[in-house]
Amino acid sequence: MAEIIKGPKGVPVYLPPQSATFLAVREALTSPARHAGYGYIELPVYEDTSLFVRGVGESTDVVSKEMFTFTDRGERSITLRPEGTAGVMRAVIEHGLDKGQLPVKIYYAAPFFRAERPQFGRYRQLQQVGIEAIGGDDPALDAEVIALADEGYRSLGLSKYELRITSLGCANCRPAYRALLQDFLRGLELDVETQERARVNPLRVLDDKRMEVQRQLTHAPLQVDHLCADCAEHYRLVKHYLLLLNVPFVEFPRLVRGLDYYTRTTFEFDHPLLGAQSGIGGGGRYDGLMTELGGAPLSGIGFGLGTDRTMIACDAEGLTVGDPARCDVFLVPLGSEAKDYAVRLAGQLRRVGVRVDMAYGDRALKGSMKAADRSGARYAVVIGDRELADRALPLKSLATGEQELVPADSLVQTIVGNLEA
Ligand code: HAM
Repeated sequence: MAEIIKGPKGVPVYLPPQSATFLAVREALTSPARHAGYGYIELPVYEDTSLFVRGVGESTDVVSKEMFTFTDRGERSITLRPEGTAGVMRAVIEHGLDKGQLPVKIYYAAPFFRAERPQFGRYRQLQQVGIEAIGGDDPALDAEVIALADEGYRSLGLSKYELRITSLGCANCRPAYRALLQDFLRGLELDVETQERARVNPLRVLDDKRMEVQRQLTHAPLQVDHLCADCAEHYRLVKHYLLLLNVPFVEFPRLVRGLDYYTRTTFEFDHPLLGAQSGIGGGGRYDGLMTELGGAPLSGIGFGLGTDRTMIACDAEGLTVGDPARCDVFLVPLGSEAKDYAVRLAGQLRRVGVRVDMAYGDRALKGSMKAADRSGARYAVVIGDRELADRALPLKSLATGEQELVPADSLVQTIVGNLEA
């Protein structure tokens, strides 16, 4: 017997009925963006490696350790997209969207690829819903982006997550703060690797999970206490608009994001029931990214929400999301004339939007009724010679077992009516 080939490690596969939850979560997370004027973008799955090196940042874990990078047949270095923001910027610049109406508002729902050590909630192919608003400095836009993420989670019934926000300052105030933090870190007892991190990316040290490091960081200077006047005002207004939008948040001055492009507003949605991989989504401003990638000097803000982790969060909160039923009505024909009738009826019902499946393979009644139950359908219609002769068909509720005899001429109408009731 031929050897069975296994799927790649760390890549979740969503099969029915669980895939119905995946689709429902993705829909819930994208729907708020569509209601706020964001248009869909279908991004390339791979890009020139330099896009991510320049866009996401060479010192980030994502770029230095986690990229799936290959040399293609033309000896070009290509990388499977580890995230969406850099690709969106590239497309906006290349296709001149930045020269049209601003802000450019874009959303996507797609898989991304990171060569991480797989564990629960951390995958090598991860699914995200993301939005990007490019060319707008208004703090009300920051609040809009954050509120759209919050709305997506809330519409699923999630309530236990926490929204954490902070400001990372800008090109004016960040360098002085960075120097201050580096000075502080130099005075600590850190291992060689962490000292090097403090030199290259000192903010990342604030995120060190080890107790012996955290203990020394109690009095570390924080960016929010060293913002320039413009950044402080921007941050104040973001919080003001979040309150107007009824979005609860906590200020989290030690928030550190894994990507280098962030400036000013940054945020993360944290779910306490998810264990180590508790970030269900995050994002922020990236006011220098467009110029870094050769575009016009436009600011931007966006988020990436983890679809996989949001599914886990729904499960952890005991929420049933999505309809696992494959169909609404299951047809059971008994005999060849009945089969012709069932095939025609299935077509008619599908055309008016009813989800229909039927028993194929000329099976006996018992097996077909089992299949009807398994399909999740609300109704079954058993079609036999007598029913056809009488031109009346039994519409059976699979939940209650009750059955009504419906004239053949009004069957489609009755089914539609019952399903809408
Ligand atoms: P990120 O924080 O790297 O941001 O990813 C966003 C979300 O994707 C995370 O909060 C998490 O829920 C999910 N995620 C990330 N890595 C994994 C993984 N290995 N397995 C499962 N889920 C994962 C970004 O990617 C930015 N591009 C977001 C953004 C858009 N910022 C501005 N615009």
